[in-house]
Amino acid sequence: QTIDRAEEDTVAVHIENRIAWVKYNRPEKRNCMSPKLNRQMTRVLEDLEFRDDVGVVVLTGEGSAFSAGMDLQEYFRENEQKGLWATRKSQREAYNWWERLRWYEKPTIGMINGWCFGGAYGPLYAVDIAISSDDAKFGLSEINWGILPGGGASKVAQELMPLRKAMYHAMMGENLTGKQAEAQGLVTESVPHDQLKARVIEIAEALLKKDANALRATKWAMRRMVEMTYDNAEDYLIRAQEALNGFGGLEGRKEATKQFLDDKTFKPGLGTFDI
Ligand code: ACO
Repeated sequence: QTIDRAEEDTVAVHIENRIAWVKYNRPEKRNCMSPKLNRQMTRVLEDLEFRDDVGVVVLTGEGSAFSAGMDLQEYFRENEQKGLWATRKSQREAYNWWERLRWYEKPTIGMINGWCFGGAYGPLYAVDIAISSDDAKFGLSEINWGILPGGGASKVAQELMPLRKAMYHAMMGENLTGKQAEAQGLVTESVPHDQLKARVIEIAEALLKKDANALRATKWAMRRMVEMTYDNAEDYLIRAQEALNGFGGLEGRKEATKQFLDDKTFKPGLGTFDI
């Protein structure tokens, strides 16, 4: 199917009830990531990052795929024909938005609606919470076409999965279902396809009720600590909380404590304070 999509049409965005739905929008190419799509994704994410009308960003795919990885035509073949400069430029454009997403200011949810291959593990790792359809298929298919899983994909598998499982996954090129991906740590949770959107909305709405600054500090701390010793983490967390105090953390905590101890309107063990 030859659809010459303009760069700005490679990503679809729709905001509803403070949830921004960001969709890979090349369903006819199973949402594989072309240089155009990567550039547009950077613009879209940058635009949404500090908007007041957006509290949570959901990344998903139009049609039957989440994303079939890198575009073998536009990202690999055409760049190789142009020269190393083109390959490097495209790598930067892709890695750039995955990195931005890893350290995004707002909470992010991946809604893995279908095929998720190779390069798509970059954004899969970058989102804070990944909810999969039981029908989705996950694969490091690189080995099936004679390359190694680059672009961070091997690292993602090694980081999220037990090593025995990650090794098998990378070497065999077999696909995992949503439920298998959940069992092996690639996604947070897998649900029947017809419940996927409802579950994502449920999580997004819960996140919207929480203190946004505390959420940001929490998600950054969880990711940052992966490479820290216990002592460094302990120290980092003290400093991160003190930095959060400068973003309203102190007032938030005082208010929450008052609602619990004095007003008795909520219990932290059972729900969120009224922000
Ligand atoms: N790069 C370029 N084109 C792609 C890609 C891709 N990664 N994935 C799908 N397409 C194109 C197909 O070539 C086809 O184009 P055409 O209509 O012009 O012929 C179109 O998308 C539809 O794809 P089909 O294969 O017909 O769709 P189907 O639903 O039968 O299969 C599947 C989907 C399994 C995802 C298959 O397209 C596929 O194997 N894609 C490649 C997946 C992959 O290995 N990606 C690379 C991972 S490695 C990396 O990212 C570095």
